[in-house]
Amino acid sequence: MASYSLSSFKIRLINSILFENFNKDVPLDRVYANHFRKIKLEPQEQSLIIDLVNDLIKRLNYYSFIAGYNKPKDGRRHINKLICALHVENKWPVPKGLSDCDDFSEKQAKIRKEQAKEIPNLKYGCPEWLDLLGKKELGDRWEKEKIALSRKPDRYIRVNTLKVTKEQLCQMLSAARIKYEVCENSEDALRITSNTDLFKTQMFKDGFFEQQDAGSQEISPFLQVKPGLRVIDACAGAGGKTLHLAALMKGKGVIIAMDDKDWKLQALRERAKRAGAFNIETRHIDSPKVIKKLKAQADRVLLDVPCSGTGVLKRNFDTKWSDNSNDIRELTAIQADIIDRYSQMTRPGGILVYSTCSILPMENQNQIETFLKNHTEFVLEDQKTVYPSEGGDGFFMARMRRLTEEEAAARDSDAENESQSAAEAPAEENTAETSDE
Ligand SMILES: C[S@@+](CC[C@H](N)C(=O)[O-])C[C@H]1O[C@@H](n2cnc3c(N)ncnc32)[C@H](O)[C@@H]1O
Repeated sequence: MASYSLSSFKIRLINSILFENFNKDVPLDRVYANHFRKIKLEPQEQSLIIDLVNDLIKRLNYYSFIAGYNKPKDGRRHINKLICALHVENKWPVPKGLSDCDDFSEKQAKIRKEQAKEIPNLKYGCPEWLDLLGKKELGDRWEKEKIALSRKPDRYIRVNTLKVTKEQLCQMLSAARIKYEVCENSEDALRITSNTDLFKTQMFKDGFFEQQDAGSQEISPFLQVKPGLRVIDACAGAGGKTLHLAALMKGKGVIIAMDDKDWKLQALRERAKRAGAFNIETRHIDSPKVIKKLKAQADRVLLDVPCSGTGVLKRNFDTKWSDNSNDIRELTAIQADIIDRYSQMTRPGGILVYSTCSILPMENQNQIETFLKNHTEFVLEDQKTVYPSEGGDGFFMARMRRLTEEEAAARDSDAENESQSAAEAPAEENTAETSDE
């Protein structure tokens, strides 16, 4: 790319994309959709623009530093200077005459680029607040995860076994010249290595697959569903995991998909239709009564709670540039409330899975520990963190079983016996001491 320089048209386009994302708080995928609907580019040109903008936003602190700003929030206010820094990074001639760039010094920018290479947080596009939190929460493990989170995410799809087998889908992908790899550790996941727009394919329109990260595909099987069960997916959103549950249940039994945002359930219903998943009912949680009514009703409950999203920052990198630490503390209170109340929908003997797309113990293991202390009717069966350094996105899942009524009664009588013997023990010890004397 050494002699490449961007045309003034492409510079204006990049400026416009960054402006909309930085100043109007529009999520990046929507900004791309808005722009590329109006402006038709050759596919390679469009990919070049997306790659450049993604790198610029992913490492906003790095590009801001090259442009002369120590804080990314200052860099955001000088988009054309960030674009000049992008040219310096790629060793392209810096464009002349851009507004706000009279005082941009190419010589200084090159010196700062060399300095930035020695500063890990700049090199890996890690905001200060996240670095502090990551170190506090994950200790020595954080460095590895920080580096992993700076990498480009892989693309995975899940075969919709309600409609096709994995072999059939593989044949269709090959016929369409879409390159893929089979994932060893995941039953229905394929890694797509071509740059194809999958959503435009007939295979997608026919519901033969869903786009879903390989780590995320571990969560629904963790709930150990079977055809015929009554399952509640209480934070279902647009239904990524609900559709997987439906496929694992072979479309038999009932899934009640719930969320406190009705518009997400509308999207879920449309996706379910395309996927041929007809055993899903949706219920909007518009009052605490909706949850109370389902007390002890479900064989399986999935709580895929709202979280910091620290596990999926490879993908959602535009969300990390505002200090989210206070929001995360607020989220932990919401998570604790959800698991406390919604867990009660699990019937005795049933299974509850709590999951997040976070890698922070404060949202994961710590929540489970507190929950189990306050809810002795549940026992932990297994818990697992999938780390971004393992290749895909990061997730956490914990599986708990609600004791049956007999088990709970036996546990209560054991506890009573223990406390009785504990009450008697000191008297025996005293007697022993006396006789020794
Ligand atoms: C991590 S997302 C779920 C993603 C979804 N399970 C999937 O696989 O696509 C968390 C969801 O919880 C919902 N939510 C937030 N607070 C809630 C609450 N108090 N009760 C139910 N759902 C809630 C959000 O609207 C969001 O859709």
